[in-house]
Amino acid sequence: MKIFIDTADIGEVARLSRFGIIDGVTTNPALIARMGLDFRSIVEEMCRIVDGPVSAEVVSESGESMIREAEEIARFHPNVVVKLPATPEGFYALRQVSRLGIKTNFTIVYTANQALLAAKLGATYVSPFVGRLDANSTNGCDLVREIRQIYNNFGFKTQILAASMRNAVYVKEAALAGADVATIPPEVIDAMMKNELTELSLKGFLAEWDALPSEKRSYFSMDTRS
Ligand code: E4P
Repeated sequence: MKIFIDTADIGEVARLSRFGIIDGVTTNPALIARMGLDFRSIVEEMCRIVDGPVSAEVVSESGESMIREAEEIARFHPNVVVKLPATPEGFYALRQVSRLGIKTNFTIVYTANQALLAAKLGATYVSPFVGRLDANSTNGCDLVREIRQIYNNFGFKTQILAASMRNAVYVKEAALAGADVATIPPEVIDAMMKNELTELSLKGFLAEWDALPSEKRSYFSMDTRS
C-alpha cells in the first residue's frame, strides 16, 4: 500500500520524506488555509520535495468553474492531481476533467455508489473518508472493503485512497480492507513508527550492553554509546 502524507505543512513533508516512506501528498482547502500561505506556492513546494502525486483541491462549487479551476491547478506541476468533491456538480466536472487527461482525486466520498460512479467516469483516485464515517457511528473501513469488491468485480483501475486516517488503527484496517493508498497526517505517521514495547525492549538490551567494560564494547571504530 502506498503512503501519502495528508498535510499542507511543508516542514512536516520535508521531515517525514527523509524516511523514504512518503509516496505522495494530499491537501485540502482547510489544511491550506491553516498555513496562511499562497496555495500555488505550497503545492509547487510539495512537488519539489516529493517525487509523487500531490493532490490539490478546487474550491468552486459549479461544475463549469471546477473544470476551469482544475485546468489551472493542473498547470502548477506535472505531478499535480486535482481533487474534485463528490457532489453532482463534481461528477459533471469529473467527466470533463478526466477527458482532458488531468489526474483526479474524487474526494469526500461516503458511499460505495459514489465510488462506483467515480470509477465509471475515470477518476484516478477515489477518497473514502474513513475517520469521519467512524465519527458518525459507521464503520469507515467497511466502505473501503465494499469499494474494493466493486472495483475488483468490474476491473476498475481507479485507486482507493483511504482518507481521514485519524489514528494508526485506521491505517491498518484500510490496508487489510484492500486500499491502494492511505493518506495520513504527520502525527499518525509518527505514531505508526513507534511502539512502547519496542522502546522498553531496546532500553533493556542497551542497559546490559552499557554494563560491559569499555574494551569489550569497542568492536566498532567508534563507541557510539559514549
Ligand atoms: C484527504 O484528502 C483529506 O484531506 C483528509 O484525509 C481529511 O481528513 P479529516 O477528516 O481528518 O479532516
